[in-house]
Order: sequence, then C-alpha cells, then structure tokens
Amino acid sequence: MPSLRAVRVSVGLSALVLAACARQSAAPVAAPSPTGATTSAALAAVPAPAATMPARAASVVPNPNAPKVLVIATGGTIAGVQNAPGTLGGYRAGTLTAEQIISSVPELARYARVETEQFSNVASTFVTPEMWVQLAKRINEVLQRGDLAGVVVTHGTDRLEETAFFLYLTVRSNKPVVVVGAQRPATGISPDGPINLLSAVRTAASPKAVQKGVMVVMDDRILSARESRKLYQRTGGFSTGDMGMLGVVASQGPEFFFAPVRRFGERSEFDLDGVDTLPKVELTMSYPGGTGQTFTTNPKGVVVATTGMTAAESATYRALRQSGVVVVTSFTSGENVNGGDGGDFPMPQAAANSATRPDSAARPAPAPAVPPSVSALHLTATKARILLMLALTKTNNPREIQRIFNEY
Ligand code: SIN
Repeated sequence: MPSLRAVRVSVGLSALVLAACARQSAAPVAAPSPTGATTSAALAAVPAPAATMPARAASVVPNPNAPKVLVIATGGTIAGVQNAPGTLGGYRAGTLTAEQIISSVPELARYARVETEQFSNVASTFVTPEMWVQLAKRINEVLQRGDLAGVVVTHGTDRLEETAFFLYLTVRSNKPVVVVGAQRPATGISPDGPINLLSAVRTAASPKAVQKGVMVVMDDRILSARESRKLYQRTGGFSTGDMGMLGVVASQGPEFFFAPVRRFGERSEFDLDGVDTLPKVELTMSYPGGTGQTFTTNPKGVVVATTGMTAAESATYRALRQSGVVVVTSFTSGENVNGGDGGDFPMPQAAANSATRPDSAARPAPAPAVPPSVSALHLTATKARILLMLALTKTNNPREIQRIFNEY
C-alpha cells in the first residue's frame, strides 16, 4: 500500500504529471529502447517502485536539524517512467515530478530537509541555452537564502554536462550545487536514480562541498562540472578523462581529495543580470578533405573541433575571423593544453605556410593582419562553445577571449 505521503503527492500532483506527459507527447524517448506513447493508464502503474517505500520510510529517522537542500527538477531519465514498469523496456524521460522523485528516497530525510521545485519536466535534449540562463538565475537567487545549504538539480544525462558547465561558470556562490541524473528509468530494474539522488543530496548538504563549484554526482563519484563528460550510456558512464575526480560518496558521506583551482563560482566574471539570450555560437568538425563551414548569416562565434585543419579549412576559418567571427579551436578529445597565446592555431597555419612559401627573396607581401583564433586548451568543443557564448556577452576581442579561456 502506498504511504499517505505518496498518496497525497500522487493526487496533488497528478494534474501536473499529466500536463507534463501531454507536453512531452512529441518528445524523443531515451535510448536504448524507444517507447510508444505514455498514457495516463501507464502512469497509473508508476506506484510499482513506491510499493517498497513504506518499510524503508518506517526505518528512517528524519533529522530535524539537517541542512536544507533545494532539489530543482528539470526532467530526464531520473524522472522516467516505462510503459511496462520493472522491465528493460523503453520509457519516457521527464515524467515523474520533483515531489515523486523525492518521495521514492525516504532516506534523504536522514541527511537533509529537502525542498523541491519543478523547473521543467523534459528530456534533456529539449533543454535550451535560454533555459540555462533562467536556471542559473534561479539558483543564484535561491542561494542568497541564509538557511539553504545547497542545491541539487535533477537532469537528463544526454545534455547534463553542458548544463552543469554553464552553471559552473555562472552560479556566483561558494555553496554546493550538484547536478545529478540516471541512466535507468525510475521504474526500471535496479534504477540508479535513487542512489544517485541520495549521494547528490548528501553532497549538497555537506560543509565539505563548499567552495568546490558545481559538481556532477553519479555512481558514487564527485566530478567537477568542468571536467565531467558522458562517455557512455550505462551506469558509470560519467567520467573526467585524465583530470581525475574530486571525491567519492562513501557510506559515511562525501569524501573530497581535490578541489578545482581555476576560476568559477564567486570568482566568476559572468553576470547574467540583463542577459536572457546568449550570442549564437556554432560548432563544427574538421576532418580529412574538409573545407570548413560557411554560413548564410554569420554567427558571433564558431568552435572548430580539430586535431589539425586542412589548408582549405584554415582558409575558411581565417576568412570568418577576418569578417569578425570569433573562431575557437578545440582539440577533438578535449585533452589538449597547447596554445593559449592568442596566436593562430599552430598546426594548420604552419601547414598552410609551408605549402605556399616561396624559397627566394621574391616572397609575397604578408597578408593583412587577421584577428587571431582562440585555443580552447583543455575543454571539449561542446564546453568551449558554452564558454565562448558567455565570453561573447562581454567582448568580441579574441585576445580578451583567449584570456578567458586561459583562466576558466
Ligand atoms: C535525457 O537526457 O533526458 C534522457 C537520457 C537520460 O537522462 O539518461
């Protein structure tokens, strides 16, 4: 039998859940197994995981003095519901409400007094840059509350690393903000959402997590939002590559081993006051035989993922720079620290020069100065795009933008 709290929540919020389902009718369904439409009849089956709640809830002694944590829900698989709960079948991401997700983890009450807020309820492929701005503004606002220890954002994993990085750059507080998702739906076999949420809330409630910036907490790992990446679509799929993780969530709670040292949080220069939309920045890929991307209407910036451009690509991006577009080059793997002097991307330029350089004094006059390209250093192209969007809210001078890439 469902607990009284679960009944109240499911009755009180059923209209919101159904509205979310209606809104999601055209939403893509999370891989690997696409579902058919989710109906209210299918939702009626949602209490399946909740059936195990009363016994767990009864064993929890809530801590009335625990820190307050606000859970802001945006959707994703962590709020995903299957047509056939308890199977390996497909599901619709962004279906359960914040309250329903919280109710399924009674153990949270041991560690935090949890408040909830529903920001959106969508698969994360629906999250837009405008939503990043609104979310960051909201988090900046609530973190002014003296009684709030930290914030947890529940989010789909497909676009989680981008939202987390945007928040890392724009939440100007030293309080912990933890972004969390799940790779298995809430109604699935062994869902990872509940344990991930518990770890995320424990981290957001912990004084040890202060001054660590925005973090991604999943699979017992605490990752800096700057480094976290979705490497694969199974549990354990989030990693930081060579950069290491900040800590772990052990049975006794969060344990930190490292802290980020680049600019973020209170030391961030990115103020979203007066910002509602972000400058348009495109992302392109360089490849053998490539000629580079041109546009009918130029964006403000372009990020090129490349390990070395062809001469034709170099020429295209040089022309874009000449016309005022800021071009950032990012190593395809994101694992590069060369560059950063504000000069041309060394490999393609050297290749272009050696292909055309005459060997006599009859060297042609140097080409007119072209604004330099910017090196993303150790950032993936998707994250470089986010930093460039923010940088362009302040300046379009590539040397100043290189300074920003050097510092964040
Ligand atoms: C999503 O990103 O919303 C769906 C996939 C997931 O959360 O794992």
